[in-house]
Amino acid sequence: MALLIKNIKSLINTENKPVKWVAGSDMQKLNTIENAYLLIEKDIIVDFGKMSNLKINDFNGKTIDATGKMVFPSFCDSHTHLVYAGSREIEYGDKIRGLSYEEIAKRGGGILNSAKLLHNTSEESLYQQSLQRINEIIGFGTGAVEIKSGYGLNLEDELKMLRVIKRLKETTPVTIRSTFLGAHAVPAEYKGKQGEYVDLIINEMIPVIASEDLADYIDVFCDKGFFTVQETERMLMAGIKYGMRPKIHANELDFSGGIQVGVKYEALSVDHLEFTGDEEIQSLKNSETMPTLLPGAAFFLGMIDPPVRKMISAGLPVALASDYNPGSSPSGNMKFIMSLGTIKLRMLPEEVIHATTINGAYAMGISDTHGSIAKGKIANVFITKEIPTYDYMPYAYTSNLIEKVILNGKVIM
Ligand code: NIG
Ligand code: FE
Repeated sequence: MALLIKNIKSLINTENKPVKWVAGSDMQKLNTIENAYLLIEKDIIVDFGKMSNLKINDFNGKTIDATGKMVFPSFCDSHTHLVYAGSREIEYGDKIRGLSYEEIAKRGGGILNSAKLLHNTSEESLYQQSLQRINEIIGFGTGAVEIKSGYGLNLEDELKMLRVIKRLKETTPVTIRSTFLGAHAVPAEYKGKQGEYVDLIINEMIPVIASEDLADYIDVFCDKGFFTVQETERMLMAGIKYGMRPKIHANELDFSGGIQVGVKYEALSVDHLEFTGDEEIQSLKNSETMPTLLPGAAFFLGMIDPPVRKMISAGLPVALASDYNPGSSPSGNMKFIMSLGTIKLRMLPEEVIHATTINGAYAMGISDTHGSIAKGKIANVFITKEIPTYDYMPYAYTSNLIEKVILNGKVIM
C-alpha cells in the first residue's frame, strides 16, 4: 500500500546523498523543501520533492493533505533506560533538599533502589510498564530508541530486562536497539568486592547474554564512584569479543577518562560528557565515536552543562538523547530535549534537529536506514500541527505539536 503526503509546508532534513552524521559547522545547515510531497511504498521512502514536480497518474494509495504542516524524520533517541520497574519520586524530595546524585546513591538509593524494585517485579508487569512508556514516546515523535539493561545487576534480572527489550522489539512498531549495562552500579552484595562483580560480568553475564543474542551493544558507567577505566577496558574487551560494540556513560560526574577509553575501543557513542576539556575533544576528533549529550539529566539533577559550542566549533558531530530513566531523567520527550538543547546548551534549531535525528541514528548504529528523509530509508516520520517555522518546535517548549505519527509507512497515531 502506498502513502502520499502532499502540500507539505516544509519537508525537514532531506538528504540527497546519504551521510553517516552531520558535524561541525554543517550542523547549522538544514536541507528543507517547501511545498513538498513525500511518497512512501510499504515501509520505505521512495520519493520526495517539490509539489510542482509531483507526477503521479492513477494513484490508488492513501493520500494525506498536509497543508500548513511540516514533516520531520522521527526522532532517534539513542540513550534510554526505559525498561524499569515503578518510579523513584521518593528521592525527589531529598534531591530538592540538596542531596546530590552521588549522595543518594551512597545511601542505597538511586540505581540500587530501582534494582530492588525490578527484582520484585514480574517479567510480564515489567513488559506492560515499559510498553506504556514506548507508546508514550511514539506519541512524542520517537521512531527509534536504544534501551539499556542495568537495573538487574545479577544474571537473572539482567536477562529479565533484556528479554523484555527483545519482546518490545518484536511487538512494537518502533525500531529498538538493546544495550547490556550490567556495569551500571555495584550491587549491594558486592560492596567492597567490586572486582568480583566485574569478573561476574565478564565470565558469566556476557557469554550467556551473547548466546541468547539479547544485546546489540555493551555499556559501562565509567565515572567517579562507579567503574574505573581499567575495569571498563576489561569489560569492553569481553563484550567486543562477543560482537557487542561499546557505548559508554562517560564524564558525567568527573573527568573520568571514560571518553578516551570509549574512543580507544571504537565506541559508537560516549554519553553525558558534562566534564569535557580540550584533551577529551582532541581524542574525539578523527574518531568514529558520536559525542552524545543528555541535557534532560543535567537539567533534572542541576548539574553543569557540557561545552557543546566548543565541541561543535572543533568540528565534532553531537547527538542529543533523552536518557529516559527513573533517577536522573524521568522523561522521554525528545521535543523537550530539543528545547533544552537550544535554551540550556545554546545550540541552534538546525543543530538540535540534526542532533535528535541523523546523529542520534548514528549513535545507535542505524544511520544508513533512519534519521533523515532519504530515498530507501525506513518511512518513520511525523506530521506536525500547523506551525509557522521549524524554529517553533524547540521554541514552544511545552506545546504538543505532533499531529500524526507514521512508522514503517503506516499511520499509527
Ligand atoms: O544515565 N548515569 C547513570 N545512569 C543513569 C541514571 C540511572 C538512574 O539513576 O536510575 C543516567 O543518568
Ligand atoms: Fe544513562
